[in-house]
Amino acid sequence: MDSATNGKTLPEFEDPINMPIVSWSDEYDVNIDKIDKQHRHLLQLVNDLHSAVEARIDKDELKHMLVGLVEFTRTHFSTEEQLMEQHDYPGKSSHLREHRMLLRHLSDLVAAVSQGKYPTFYSDYDVSTDWALLHIEEYDKPLGIYLNHKKNQ
Ligand SMILES: [Fe+2]
Ligand SMILES: [Fe+2]
Repeated sequence: MDSATNGKTLPEFEDPINMPIVSWSDEYDVNIDKIDKQHRHLLQLVNDLHSAVEARIDKDELKHMLVGLVEFTRTHFSTEEQLMEQHDYPGKSSHLREHRMLLRHLSDLVAAVSQGKYPTFYSDYDVSTDWALLHIEEYDKPLGIYLNHKKNQ
């Protein structure tokens, strides 16, 4: 028996209320202090947003939180991009492309909320904590390895 479902039949569609908030784990560390601190904060902002959506907060408040997330994400991406530039990171162009794509996705979400739509975050706009964690795993970790390798040369 699957312990996660306790033997009960899952509903056909997942209820966003029951989706877990992700806590930071050391396995997400890329071992660059500034980046790791920003990642922790980013995850906190995403989690706060999820809680806010689940609590069905006011649309204007939600938009305000989303704009805050977009601003911090921009700051964070530019931190990484400066490091890539300074250290001639060979994976820079694909990493930058991914940053642009994620920012576009977040901007679409702000636009949707501005138009009066209310996201579930797990279906309507496909935004979940995963985007942050997947990006860290696939793009930021290799950057961390590269930067640490250069530092130790
Ligand atoms: Fe990144
Ligand atoms: Fe990052």
